[in-house]
Amino acid sequence: MAETLYIDLSKDKESIYKDLYPQVEGLLTGETHAVANMANFCAVLKSVFDWHWVGFYTVEGDELVLGPFQGPIACTRLYRGKGVCAAAWEGARSVLVDDVEQFPGHIACSSATQSELVIPLKNSKGEVWAVLDLDSSELAGFDDLDRRELEALVELIPAP
Ligand code: SME
Repeated sequence: MAETLYIDLSKDKESIYKDLYPQVEGLLTGETHAVANMANFCAVLKSVFDWHWVGFYTVEGDELVLGPFQGPIACTRLYRGKGVCAAAWEGARSVLVDDVEQFPGHIACSSATQSELVIPLKNSKGEVWAVLDLDSSELAGFDDLDRRELEALVELIPAP
């Protein structure tokens, strides 16, 4: 079923997230396939927010492997101990980076990325099974409100 988002982009960011939540909930309800849900989730975020890259990496053994995304071509595999995504995966917590140049080991899949927010997705045992990676072409493109709201939104995606 095709879905349309009803979001007034002239509103402030907090209101946009408030309007977005029930619509994302409706979009994902009834679908349990993780890839399908991650794909639509990226499409929603990319259409509402003007971020450079929005996408998922899934945990595959000892690596993170590129999943559904919107934006330029990206690195397909990421490894433990290096980069923002790995930090969120291994620390099982969100990582907000205002300036990627200041983050030791940051992996520049795109030279346009200046700031980044990575949010882990956990299963019922609390294990990280994927991360949501958001890249902005502006410095400090994300704030604590984004982190909090996106942490709530990713919980709508059922773990596989
Ligand atoms: N910058 C990320 C790698 C993924 S790409 O930006 C899409 C990192 O440091 O883990």
